Amino acid sequence: MMLSSVVFSFCFIPILGNLCQENSATYHFRLGDIRGTVLYDGPLTFSTNPFFVPFEALRSTYKACFRPIEPLTLSQNVLLLESKVGRVLVDPGSRGGQANPLLASGGLLFRNMRAAGILPESIDHIFLTHAHADHVSGLLGLDGGRAFRNAKVYIGIKEHRFWITEPLPISEDHPLRDTLLGFARTYRQSIAPYASRLVLVRDGGAPLPGFRFLPSPGHSPGHNHIQIASKGESLIVSGDAWMSKPDQLQNPSWQVGTESDPLNARRSRMKLIRQAAKNRSLVFAYHEAFPGLGYVVKSREGSFDWVVAPPILIGTGVVQKCTS
Ligand SMILES: *[C@@H]1O[C@H](CO)[C@@H](O)[C@H](O)[C@H]1NC(C)=O
Repeated sequence: MMLSSVVFSFCFIPILGNLCQENSATYHFRLGDIRGTVLYDGPLTFSTNPFFVPFEALRSTYKACFRPIEPLTLSQNVLLLESKVGRVLVDPGSRGGQANPLLASGGLLFRNMRAAGILPESIDHIFLTHAHADHVSGLLGLDGGRAFRNAKVYIGIKEHRFWITEPLPISEDHPLRDTLLGFARTYRQSIAPYASRLVLVRDGGAPLPGFRFLPSPGHSPGHNHIQIASKGESLIVSGDAWMSKPDQLQNPSWQVGTESDPLNARRSRMKLIRQAAKNRSLVFAYHEAFPGLGYVVKSREGSFDWVVAPPILIGTGVVQKCTS
């Protein structure tokens, strides 16, 4: 009794009004020589059904996974890898996207980086799986300059070329044409301050040792997943090859509205899902429930399922310095 009241007054009262009253939303893990950290960027919230399936189908699969659909909410997980080549951030979230209501609740990355003691200027390399606004708009600082002053930005050459083509080669009857035109504007704005620091990666290229970009086109024209290897261990960064467990992992034939090429998106998705299940690969998925680290397994019904990585890998939280 005594102890708990001491703990209460000592531990809780002095920290009101600072970051310590919030979830740390940061997870550490190890991959060979690499120290990994997952940082939460906030939810991605949809006001309408983004999948081309009846709302009832969506409701039942989301409900079975205890996921909200009103509004439908996906996670945005940002991956930081500290290795011999420096600090690598993958898909830096959506802070610059406030103009787009879809992205309004993102951008927590910067607060979570601060809580974890990581300064934006300490990031050396930023990898982009693709150019959609929820993955790239965090590049842009609030002042219109680089949010990551010292970083180089790496993206697949096909992806980059597509989104800077004027006019954007999107068919007139694409159902989300306006959204995609908006994505092109956001991408161009977001990378503009990095013009002299942009590295265009060819299909299958390894721009830094241990980090390989592998094409999985369809969700966007030059979408890549990224294979990371260290000391015999490996991690697959899936990007948006599938969105999340209740939708495109359990139902790989579902189309999400922003796909450029639904047929290829489905083909790439199936290929990666099958390989990840067969290889028992550790996967990092941007939109899976935070922290987005887990494994793809074949379910009894012959479909696929997501198994969250064990606590020994995703850690048990981060110790925060409780200063106001
Ligand atoms: C699975 O393993 C094969 C053979 O080693 C490799 O080529 C492929 O990239 C791996 N894929 C995944 C998703 O782990």
